[in-house]
Amino acid sequence: MQSAVRFSIRNLKTNRNTLKKMSEIAELEQALVLAAADADSRQYSEQIIEGIPNYLETETIESSPDYKPENEGINGFSSECSSSTVYSSLDSNRRGRKRKLEEDEHETQSVESEDGYAKVVASHYNRLEEKGLDERSKSRIVYLRNFHNWIKSMLINEYLTKIKEGKKHNAPIRVHDMCGGKGGDLLKWRKGGITHLIISDIASKSLEQCQTRYTDMKNRPYRDRRLGNIYTIEYISADCTRQRLREKYSDPSMKLDLVSCQFAFHYSFESLPQAECMLRNASECLQAGGYFIGTIPDAYDLIARARRNNTNTYGNDVYQVVIDFDLNKPPLFGGKYNFHLDGVVDCPEFLVHFPTFVKLAKKYGLKLVRNEKFFDYFERMKIEGRSLLGNMKSLEVYPSAPGATLVGQDPEDYLHAKDFIKTEIKDNRDNPRVGTLSKSEWEASSIYTTFVFEKVRSTWNTDGTPIYDI
Ligand SMILES: C[S@@+](CC[C@H](N)C(=O)[O-])C[C@H]1O[C@@H](n2cnc3c(N)ncnc32)[C@H](O)[C@@H]1O
Repeated sequence: MQSAVRFSIRNLKTNRNTLKKMSEIAELEQALVLAAADADSRQYSEQIIEGIPNYLETETIESSPDYKPENEGINGFSSECSSSTVYSSLDSNRRGRKRKLEEDEHETQSVESEDGYAKVVASHYNRLEEKGLDERSKSRIVYLRNFHNWIKSMLINEYLTKIKEGKKHNAPIRVHDMCGGKGGDLLKWRKGGITHLIISDIASKSLEQCQTRYTDMKNRPYRDRRLGNIYTIEYISADCTRQRLREKYSDPSMKLDLVSCQFAFHYSFESLPQAECMLRNASECLQAGGYFIGTIPDAYDLIARARRNNTNTYGNDVYQVVIDFDLNKPPLFGGKYNFHLDGVVDCPEFLVHFPTFVKLAKKYGLKLVRNEKFFDYFERMKIEGRSLLGNMKSLEVYPSAPGATLVGQDPEDYLHAKDFIKTEIKDNRDNPRVGTLSKSEWEASSIYTTFVFEKVRSTWNTDGTPIYDI
């Protein structure tokens, strides 16, 4: 599907400064050119916050007279996650309907099932084929994927480093990779020197692929040996938004140092009970001082782009968003949109209203440490992570090297890089080249934001409930 929207280039000046700074990093063979299309959602933030009732100011979450949520569970919700499987009590008709839902993904996305979208999401990810390195490198979004992998690597490494600083040498480090899918981060955990990994996901086939990847990594004869001993692993196939995971751990008394939820927490904002269940799963085994980290689409940004262009459908040649709620009244939970990212994602997702996320997290003893858009995270980490940027091929070389082809076919995709070379590269080198993301990829990437919460120490109420000083 083709571009429905053109973004303003409001931040060009900032980006120029970025570019200039990057050109000063002499050793970096590729300067990242992040020009154009920063979604500039911040100007819409106030407006959107006003448009959303702030239930969570009070301890109990109640229905507001000016807002009638369509989704169940806002009132009288239970903070307990259900431990039964979502479909166990379906009668045969509903089972039949469910099967149909799994068969026809496009149809399912317009049908709101009584049990939510979990199965739709699971079958989407289960159906995604494992692509080899060769095929992945031919993808239109290869650099976007690599760039996102770089963000994850840096984030994981940043917080594992903090955790290690507070521990004795060789002390165990236990991690939960929540919604870890096919195990895209397995090597990152190895490089981070962890000792035990729990990996959970709703898509059982993805977890099987993850298992194969782990075995391959473990058996790799040479390359990763220098990384030291490999961690132990356990797999949990479960809906993290409805099932209590602790009961499924090999040792339910296990204390974790880090919980990571990459590109997945937004699935829980389908309803309040699901968001609470996910947060409880993230928090309840984390030890005080441990971190809950992740990446999600920025709700402000998603809405801002739609409002700015007065349309529910927007995107470009690499991503597309179809908003499925009233833009003037975005709901706190169940704000569904369909997100399509070239060959990687094509399923319903839910807006995460960040202030609500922060307030819910507080209830589970999680204190916000940082929330940075990918662009800002990059700005902060680009020097520290510059060699990794190169190693992971997170940037495309512009102009392309002889014999290579640019991933973006539209000449506008590289105007920012062209402009940068013309205006910012002052030395007289022949055929200067820079590293960049195509404009379309950057438009997709700049939707995302990182988050970091820290688990705080609790005291206890007389009735046994924890009190967190947040
Ligand atoms: C975009 S993928 C990210 C996978 C992995 N975290 C990564 O960064 O490579 C989202 C993952 O979330 C999983 N997921 C979505 N909803 C879930 C749920 N309710 N419970 C558990 N996993 C879920 C999907 O199956 C999928 O593997």
